[in-house]
Amino acid sequence: MFQQLIPATLHDRCSLAPFEEAAHADSAEIVFFGRKTLLVNHPDLIHELLVEKATAFRKGPLLSVNARPLLGKGLLTGPNDLNRRQRRVISPAFAHKKVAEYAPIIARYAQQRVAGWREDAPVDVPTEMTAITLGIIGELLLSVDLLGASEGVGEAITILMNFAIDQQRAPVRAVLSAGPTLRALLFINRTLYQRIEQRRRRGTGASGGEADLLSRLLFATDDVTGGAYMSDKLVRDEAMTLFLGGLETVAMGLTWSLFLLAAHPHTADRAHAEVDAVLGERQVADLGDLEQLPYLQGVFKEALRLYPPAYIIARQALLPVMLGGRRLRRGQVVFASPYVQHRREENFSRPLQFDPLRWQDPDAERQLPHRYAFMPFGGGPRVCVGGHFAYMESHLILATVLRQVRLSLVPGQKAPVPEPLFTLRPRDGLILQGKRRG
Ligand code: HEM
Repeated sequence: MFQQLIPATLHDRCSLAPFEEAAHADSAEIVFFGRKTLLVNHPDLIHELLVEKATAFRKGPLLSVNARPLLGKGLLTGPNDLNRRQRRVISPAFAHKKVAEYAPIIARYAQQRVAGWREDAPVDVPTEMTAITLGIIGELLLSVDLLGASEGVGEAITILMNFAIDQQRAPVRAVLSAGPTLRALLFINRTLYQRIEQRRRRGTGASGGEADLLSRLLFATDDVTGGAYMSDKLVRDEAMTLFLGGLETVAMGLTWSLFLLAAHPHTADRAHAEVDAVLGERQVADLGDLEQLPYLQGVFKEALRLYPPAYIIARQALLPVMLGGRRLRRGQVVFASPYVQHRREENFSRPLQFDPLRWQDPDAERQLPHRYAFMPFGGGPRVCVGGHFAYMESHLILATVLRQVRLSLVPGQKAPVPEPLFTLRPRDGLILQGKRRG
């Protein structure tokens, strides 16, 4: 399976070219961000990496080393053994029934933000989508309106996210902004620890009347750990993880959805018509609408397919290990790539074509050639905990945006180049022309 090794070449640091060149091989050695890495494309190899030999690997260095100061030992970055327990405790907050309770908050933040867009003015799409998702996660996690409040948490999170991006894209700028970044990190830590202390003093979620995610984290227990609470440090790490894990990924999924619609006006006509027929005079979508908006769901899935925000799933061998019959040394980094899988002809017909109808059949995912043909949320024991929430959140936001505004390309506007940073972002941003609808 490893016969087709592609010679490593030095590429532009932030380009998907190495993935595109290696897409046809079962596996290939590529150079990404200056580091030799093994990319596995064959579904059996991906299964071996993410499922069968999951315990022999930790997350890739970007998460398990670079993101450590920010995310500590939270779900995304923490070691496998701690992760098993943490997932048991945290997953219920993202179960289907629980997530339904978040719908009114999601719709409210989307509505408020879109209502503030100036009549028929250009819209900075990534910025707006990040603001909406930041508002939502702030409210769900801390019961704080980060967009309205002057607490500074929103600004601090933005500084931290920009630093993470600069580390990859503009290392010199990252070094220069180390001071403000450290101050932002200390500020966020102080704020989180203050809130943790207040909540602990007030007692359990039920008696304290608190129902946000921070309270759930603080008072979560499970049978296996004999009813013990998480330490304050771990609560802080998980809170940061949910903040950042759920923010940028969803914002980019929405950004690419709105770009694809703007670039395909006939598809946009159909999506707007579906939303209008279901919402009628209402300006805001609710949970009950979503089942009747399958085309719009298909738009979001196509955005995740063509521009998967998490474009690689990275692992690093904890010990010498066999993979596909080849011996990997300890420390070897291995990627599985949703970006590659989603664009392979053996997985999708006309893979580069944007076609929301391919998801119309509710069984469409199960009918794909294999489990990893569509893998925007990863796979195996470290699969995304927020996948269901992300679908519901994005569906509600898109419906609310489309009901109120039509977004179009300006004449001559080119497709943005996807830039592989922590997530797949439009390299030069994305400004679309807005037109308010009746
Ligand atoms: C479109 C949106 C999203 C995408 C594309 C996405 C993608 C992913 C992927 C691919 C992974 C697996 C990473 C790996 O195996 O190394 C992951 C893990 C994770 N995601 Fe998401 N995610 C999204 C939304 C969310 C949301 C909304 C939340 C929570 C609020 C969230 C929280 C997490 C956490 C905590 C993990 C770590 C799970 C673990 O390692 O056990 N994600 N996500």
